[in-house]
Amino acid sequence: MKRPEIIELPKFLDKRGNLSFIEENSHIPFTIARSYWIYDVPGGEIRGGHAYRENEEFIVALSGSFDVLLDDGKGQKCFHLNRSYYGLYVPKGLWRSMENFSTNSLALVLASTSYDPNDYIYNYNEFKSSTK
Ligand code: TYD
Repeated sequence: MKRPEIIELPKFLDKRGNLSFIEENSHIPFTIARSYWIYDVPGGEIRGGHAYRENEEFIVALSGSFDVLLDDGKGQKCFHLNRSYYGLYVPKGLWRSMENFSTNSLALVLASTSYDPNDYIYNYNEFKSSTK
C-alpha cells in the first residue's frame, strides 16, 4: 500500500511575492480529476472523518494552518500543514480528518477521482475491518 508523505513543492521566491505550482503525475503521484477547497471553518470544527475506497488526495494549506489526522486502522499520525509550498499526499484506504483550523485558513484538496458518495466509508468499524 502507498504511504502518506509530505511533498515539498517548487517555490520561486521573488521580491514581488512568491509562486508555487503543482503538476499532476510529477509533483504528485496521480492525475487530478477534481479540486476542492475548504474555507471559513469555524473554530473547533472537524472536517472529514471518513475514508475513501479509491480516491487519493493531495492537501495544501494555501493559507493559515490545520492538522490532518491519518489512521490506517493500526495507528494514527498527525500532519501539521502551515506552508503553501508543501502538501500532504494521502493514499486511498486511510481514515482521515482535518482539525485545528486557524482563522482564515484555506485548504486546497486535489483529488484523483470525481466526487462519488459511494467511495466514502463513514463507519469507523467498517473501515477498521476493511484494513484487516
Ligand atoms: P465531505 O466530503 O463530507 O466534506 P469533508 O470531508 O471536508 O467533511 O463533503 C461535504 C459536502 O460537500 C457533502 O454533502 C458532499 C459535497 N461534496 C461535493 O458535492 N463534491 C465534492 O467534491 C466534495 C468533496 C464534497
